[in-house]
Amino acid sequence: MKQIYLDYNATTPVRPEVLEAMLPFYKEQFGNPSSVHWAGRAVAGAIEKAREQVAALLNASPAEIVFVSCGSEGDNMAIKGTLEALKGKGNHIITTAVEHPAVLETCQYLEKNGYDVTYLPVDCDGRLNLEDLEAAITDQTVLISVMWANNETGNIYRIEEIGAIAKKHNIRFHTDAVQAVGKLPIDVQKANVDLLVLSGHKIGAPKGVGAIYVRRGSRMVPLLHGGHQERNRRAGTQNVAGIVGLGVACEIAAAEREEVYQRMRTLRDKLEDGLLAQIPEIKLNGTPDRDHRLPNTLNVSFAYIEGESLLMNMDMHGIAASSGSACSSGSLEPSHVMGAMCVEITLAHSSTRFSLGPETTEEEIDTVLEVLPAAVQRLRDMSPLYNCGKSSSEACLICETVRRI
Ligand SMILES: Cc1ncc(COP(=O)(O)O)c(C=O)c1O
Repeated sequence: MKQIYLDYNATTPVRPEVLEAMLPFYKEQFGNPSSVHWAGRAVAGAIEKAREQVAALLNASPAEIVFVSCGSEGDNMAIKGTLEALKGKGNHIITTAVEHPAVLETCQYLEKNGYDVTYLPVDCDGRLNLEDLEAAITDQTVLISVMWANNETGNIYRIEEIGAIAKKHNIRFHTDAVQAVGKLPIDVQKANVDLLVLSGHKIGAPKGVGAIYVRRGSRMVPLLHGGHQERNRRAGTQNVAGIVGLGVACEIAAAEREEVYQRMRTLRDKLEDGLLAQIPEIKLNGTPDRDHRLPNTLNVSFAYIEGESLLMNMDMHGIAASSGSACSSGSLEPSHVMGAMCVEITLAHSSTRFSLGPETTEEEIDTVLEVLPAAVQRLRDMSPLYNCGKSSSEACLICETVRRI
């Protein structure tokens, strides 16, 4: 059976060019980048080259890039490190209800430690109202944190406008760009962001490496102490091979992004149009405006069925997709993103995310379009909700809600 991977927002395969560039750093180039001798110098040079490659993708300077172990560490460090540096200047943070847990749970931790946090709501399509954002600003607000693009729905947020608002009010602006980097054009100057986080394994680099862009002049207290690495901003011997891989992945993204964007967008649109046309009582989660959604992401709910059963059914056909975010799968709670978008609970439970990548082919999309409608119908035929038999005038709470789609 052919395997079809449509879960690129969870993680991506390492690009062959990336792996090739990394291998010498597991063999002959083994030095510690902090050592002053030849073995260390060669490796330190490779890290600096990667720093330039990452900076070039973001329109930043190499000195503004700090390497970390993953997106979650980057978000923690950007938020906690900035607040600690701004201690005494204010205790209010503004974020949104649809952030990744790396931001949401960091904010919840900070709430327990004396900070006030405003979690901005989103509308039923997951969009943010920037008037709400401006209205939430107080003289205590020191940080705004809004993701560039949402991992579950693919919704893209209006980062340039948010950056302008933050700048006008002299508030630091952090964006979790883990899902946006490599898929969208990113220019930290144009967007007025002070802190931006990216993760290697979402863009064809390995797991275990990420980076933070920290605007020159934005002080950030380190999370880890005990070494002078990364210009005193992150202690610990660097993951040299991972960093080299991240640099190459960023260089590839800069060269190929536009072409890959178009290809993924065409295939995603085909999948979206095909599913919406073939499957009755299906709901799109996220903005219907495709220009404001990541080109690779489609999130849909199927009335009357459980997302997990559908995932298992697809898995039997070799198709890998996901329900909610990868980090929360295994939990029976519907996703907080669906909750924030007021997606009715049974539909939230069936929310299914398809995320395409540069390697996705049209043949794979055609197979999904062949397999999925039949799988949905099979599961519906087994569902007591689907077969409840009540007429639309009778009160069946679940069916009533389902009929509102
Ligand atoms: C939007 C977003 N932020 C942060 C993360 C965490 O990144 P990492 O897996 O590198 O810790 C993810 C991972 O799914 C994500 O999608």
